[in-house]
Amino acid sequence: MSLYAIGDLHLHFGSELKAPGQLHGRVWKNHEERFRRNCAELVGEDDVLLLAGDHSWGKNDAECAPDFRYIEALPGKKVLLRGNHDMFWDAKKTAALNARFEGRLFFLQNNFYPCGRYALVGTKGFCFEGPFYLDRRGRLAGWDEKEKERADRLVEREAERLRASFEAAKGAGFRRFIVFLHYPPTSIIERDSVFTRMAEEYGADKLIYAHCHGETRFHDSIEGEKNGVFYKLVSGDYLNWMPERILD
Ligand SMILES: [Fe+2]
Ligand SMILES: [Fe+2]
Repeated sequence: MSLYAIGDLHLHFGSELKAPGQLHGRVWKNHEERFRRNCAELVGEDDVLLLAGDHSWGKNDAECAPDFRYIEALPGKKVLLRGNHDMFWDAKKTAALNARFEGRLFFLQNNFYPCGRYALVGTKGFCFEGPFYLDRRGRLAGWDEKEKERADRLVEREAERLRASFEAAKGAGFRRFIVFLHYPPTSIIERDSVFTRMAEEYGADKLIYAHCHGETRFHDSIEGEKNGVFYKLVSGDYLNWMPERILD
């Protein structure tokens, strides 16, 4: 059994395409079909395929339905993380979603997913994305303090959800963890965060994140090993729609 991960499918089979600037370009051309083919070649039915948020542009059940059908038809056991664009997933409705899609899709928040000796834990996460102010030479000179305070509150709430996920897994006897966040674990002005510290505290092997689109954003956060935790970005355009193998 292998574990694969990728994020940001941004499907819109049943809804109008809302395409912010960063979702344009060749990498997004026919990406649904390219991703489907890559999964068919790579992912077996016993494997776990973790989709790290931003699944659908749909605003309601009807608009999301064809996107869910596409995801359900992918090979493997599908585990979904909440992204900032997933309007169908109210934070309080995770249990209802898990009941509705039981045996077909698993929604990861305040719970965990067993994967061999590992527990997959995760939440949407959050990080401060500005506005940042630059000086005349283009160097970082400051940022919007009010927005930073708002971001700090959202980070705290998401940290509580991640701890609930870790504790649920620990309570079930798991001692090895892979952490999934939709947002990067740190903002561009941080070197660590409550998420990186929590991953270290619980001895997680890896922290996998998505959300960053386009060349200019791919290196916004931690990459590679830091304090015993391995960090990896898995947004779909970064991976050119090839799921990343996380565990063999
Ligand atoms: Fe995204
Ligand atoms: Fe996102």
